[in-house]
Amino acid sequence: TWTSESFADMTIQSLRLKLGNDRVVMALSGGVDSTVAATLVHRAIGDNLFCIFVDNGVLRKDEFEQVLHSYEDMGLNIKGVDAKAQFYAALAGLSEPEAKRKAIGRTFIEVFDQEAHLIQDVKWLGQGTIYPDVIESVSVKGPSATIKSHHNVGGLPDFMKLRIVEPLNTLFKDEVRAVGRTLGVPAHILSRHPFPGPGLAIRILGEVTPEKVAILQEVDALFINGLKKRGLYDEVWQAGTMLLPIQSVGVMGDERTYEQVVALRAVTSVDGMTADWAHLPYDFLAEVSNDIINRVKGVNRVVYDISSKPPATIEWE
Ligand code: XMP
Repeated sequence: TWTSESFADMTIQSLRLKLGNDRVVMALSGGVDSTVAATLVHRAIGDNLFCIFVDNGVLRKDEFEQVLHSYEDMGLNIKGVDAKAQFYAALAGLSEPEAKRKAIGRTFIEVFDQEAHLIQDVKWLGQGTIYPDVIESVSVKGPSATIKSHHNVGGLPDFMKLRIVEPLNTLFKDEVRAVGRTLGVPAHILSRHPFPGPGLAIRILGEVTPEKVAILQEVDALFINGLKKRGLYDEVWQAGTMLLPIQSVGVMGDERTYEQVVALRAVTSVDGMTADWAHLPYDFLAEVSNDIINRVKGVNRVVYDISSKPPATIEWE
């Protein structure tokens, strides 16, 4: 029978044989899959694993610093790269969702390629691909696969000439989490909700600017921290907030306001393929809504998304 302990032991041993003294480079995202994959490779070859974590300017509030610290605490050989300006430049003037995804994917590859070339003699590219990703990319002919392009599935340009190592490509998500627990990966990483590669860029409807990112980071932090405080975070599969490209009239004191609208989104799901909107308690929604409107300058209205997937998708873009 499969146990996470035996999987981890056997994988570490076979990685050691396969990789020998070779150097491996990996991009980490702060998510479960890339972190557990990196931990396995690190157990096998130590500091011959070079990890790169890119700040693309559309991460959650304080996420870059927090995740980087967690990785350092775990002993990974990790380099944080601040590429915010490069991503904002690539996103400037774009408002179409797929154009934004492509700009982010392209910029990510540029940044990663540049960083990887700074490491001498790299032979392998490590990836946190899991079994469902393999299935999804095999069945790309299906109608759903082309609805949204997920830039982080599908690998890197072949000019990098690296061999691929994917230690998790036979596992499902819950098995990945079990292996992570066995390896001592921190619980706050293992229990993280999925977060899209293009990050807040596809939750800011329309053009992305640093000012809009700053607003949405505050809104998102209030919602997510609220869920955690109320013990609701682990009850939902994914949660986030959208900055809508409209303004609405409000009133504050004697003043009329004309400000932004944000939407809260929380869903229950097994795998993200279908999802139901989470029936969060009304009093919790009321509290979060007040918090957001009182504390985030520029937002005067909060709505809750009660659409399920299908026909809606989880993200709005
Ligand atoms: P949708 O919006 O298609 O999302 O219902 C399903 C799951 O996929 C995530 N998602 C993405 N993940 N790159 C990613 O890495 C993307 O471009 C992307 N678009 C959506 C979404 O957050 C949800 O978990």
